[in-house]
Amino acid sequence: MNRSCIAGTGGYLPERVMTNAELEALVDTSDEWIRERTGITQRHIAAPEQTCSDLADAASRRALANAGLDAGAIDLVVVATSTPDHVFPSTACRLVERLGMPSGIIAFDVSAACSGFIYALDVADRFIRTGGASRALVIGAEVFSRILDWQDRGTCVLFGDGAGAVVLEAGKEPGVLSTHLHADGRQTPLLNVPWGVSQGYERLADERGKVSMRGNEVFRVAVRTLGALVDETLEANGLARGDVDWLVPHQANIRIMMATARKLGLPPSRMVSTVAEHGNTSAASIPLALDQAVGDGRIRRGDLLLLEAFGAGFTWGSALIRY
Ligand code: UT7
Repeated sequence: MNRSCIAGTGGYLPERVMTNAELEALVDTSDEWIRERTGITQRHIAAPEQTCSDLADAASRRALANAGLDAGAIDLVVVATSTPDHVFPSTACRLVERLGMPSGIIAFDVSAACSGFIYALDVADRFIRTGGASRALVIGAEVFSRILDWQDRGTCVLFGDGAGAVVLEAGKEPGVLSTHLHADGRQTPLLNVPWGVSQGYERLADERGKVSMRGNEVFRVAVRTLGALVDETLEANGLARGDVDWLVPHQANIRIMMATARKLGLPPSRMVSTVAEHGNTSAASIPLALDQAVGDGRIRRGDLLLLEAFGAGFTWGSALIRY
């Protein structure tokens, strides 16, 4: 059976940077509070005309270039996003056209909020292992700035825009070793966007199309759940604490990330952290972090990586990868 190997990574962040100081002018917050409670110092915000597929397109081109592949070599595109260009077609289909991929390939979006990239990676890995695809483009892309209530200090300081992409290629090397996906729909009120198209557009008038979160409650569930997920992932692979080389976590909050690193028995220097510069870019945060650490040479071929995420749904998942 084939294994899925990472052939290339790419990332894209919009040019515009929004600092904590700018947020101080919008809501009752402070740079000190944001940094202490979240680790965030700035985030990138898409230009008004930039859409999800613009960000995904840029990240994808970089991932393809780093893999040394032409878009024509791809036979599967999976985009994880909660902020697509259209209700339909999928953002993945938009990319098929934009990147000039051949007609007839497989392309679809995955909806799993902040865990979306892990879900997309799992699906693409299964396609590759069973021979349904040989080269997959797996993308996390978000324009969360569009679904933030810029008067809600509990959420607007946390998120940013961006996209990250990974090219997975069928091979005989270890690559993706295991993936672990979970969901529990019972806690929707803690984290959601309360509006969706099937509720009708007249409902949008009351601003219900924005992120709503009971952050402190989400925080506690996230730390507990990610701890159990670390145990599950290590156990499934016969590994012990300290055996993993790098933690590449979803970048929601530095305190959640550090708790997971501690659970893994890793020092902070072995955790890839972009939360300070990017904020929480939801499904884009893991591939962006991965791309940064691969690009600056921290993550090297042969390293053992643990990717993990927790998000709305709740959804959560991990992937253990021999890079
Ligand atoms: O990525 C998907 C999953 N999402 C997450 O994992 C997010 C998880 N949650 C968190 O990261 C944290 O809970 C937050 C960063 C959202 C909040 O941090 P916290 O330490 O849990 O704060 P809190 O919600 O308990 O609020 C503490 C205080 C409150 O004031 P009072 O009631 O103590 O007077 C809040 O009203 O901080 C206040 N507060 C703020 N103050 C200044 C909330 N947001 C802000 C703010 N600036 N932006």
